[in-house]
Amino acid sequence: MVLPFLKKPSPMRLIRALKGEVTSEVPFWYMRQAGRYLPEYRDLRMKAGSFLDLCFNPELAMEATLQPIRRYDMDAAIIFSDILVIPYALGQRLDFIEKEGPKLDPIQERDAFLKLNFDMLEDKLSPVYEALKLTRAALDPSKALIGFAGAPWTVACYMVEGEGGGEFPLTRQIAFDNPEIFDILIDKIVTATTTYLLRQIESGADAVQLFDSWAGLLPEPYFTRWVIKPAKKIADAIDRAHKGFPIIGFPRGAGERYVPFAKKTGIRAIALDQNVPLPWAREMMGSKVTLQGNLDPTSLLSGGKRLYQDAMLILEACRHQPFVFNLGHGIQKETPPEHVAELSQIIKNFKR
Ligand code: CP3
Repeated sequence: MVLPFLKKPSPMRLIRALKGEVTSEVPFWYMRQAGRYLPEYRDLRMKAGSFLDLCFNPELAMEATLQPIRRYDMDAAIIFSDILVIPYALGQRLDFIEKEGPKLDPIQERDAFLKLNFDMLEDKLSPVYEALKLTRAALDPSKALIGFAGAPWTVACYMVEGEGGGEFPLTRQIAFDNPEIFDILIDKIVTATTTYLLRQIESGADAVQLFDSWAGLLPEPYFTRWVIKPAKKIADAIDRAHKGFPIIGFPRGAGERYVPFAKKTGIRAIALDQNVPLPWAREMMGSKVTLQGNLDPTSLLSGGKRLYQDAMLILEACRHQPFVFNLGHGIQKETPPEHVAELSQIIKNFKR
């Protein structure tokens, strides 16, 4: 047994903050920090051929993961992949169409949900685990490597609809009309995602984030059924295998439902979208929860005075609290890379 006082604090600022410490410098990383706003990413993407070829080539995926760190020296790298590799590993056809986004062969029937199986999961996802191993070995010990997965509800939206669009009318209709049938799909994704995240942790991830990008589409009682409960199942399984392992929950657009999400899942680091006021979140969730967020990505697009003012408001609001600076959603592809440099400097210059 390791006595608590003999445990060394992590050399990674991000991990200390995710575990509740108020670090003297605010750790930061950005959702979608790797991607098309970077010219070196666009070159790499050309070289790889397709987006999926890039995701499933461990050396190239490592390179995409490290590109933003070289430029901006964030506290964390997030492994380069996509949430839709789970439907792909479950046997669904997946393509990324230029300027349109992901396309899958939609599945909408009970039988199709029942047929999903895990036979190919390990084989199809092994390049992601290999990319994590390579990246962890190449990364400075002071930097955290973040693994991730889509949350079951958001992944189900793409599996049922076959594409994005933001409203997912068909998915909601099936879910609300036939909740027991929809549960079959959600449970399959819970199982696959749990295995996937545990394998990422074994392969070197220091923290994991669960992206529920479309959580805001679900009112109660569905929010509890398909956002809170699946996240709790996944988080509990990770905690059983790796006690206290840092997990970041991101039920984007959940509004006041962020509060029961944090309470009922027990997840101790919560990523906020830009619509959630930080002081409100702090008051409602308490200072045992680490907050992450929540700059509007359009502020980063604008740069200059607006970026400075918006970033400082966030830093001041969280001065004395466990906090990780991030955006409220991913970096937009039109964002000038110099603005990302400006923001990173603003955060580094801020002293608590
Ligand atoms: O840097 C990082 O954050 C790591 C990589 C990452 C990607 N996607 C790479 C990517 C992460 C964490 C994601 C998460 C993801 N993917 C989410 C959840 C977060 C969110 O944005 O809400 C979702 C919903 C997806 C699904 C997805 N992937 C869509 C809808 C699209 C098309 C729209 C778009 O932004 O292009 C993708 C493609 C995708 N995923 C790209 C990248 C870099 C662009 C593809 C390309 O290079 O051609």
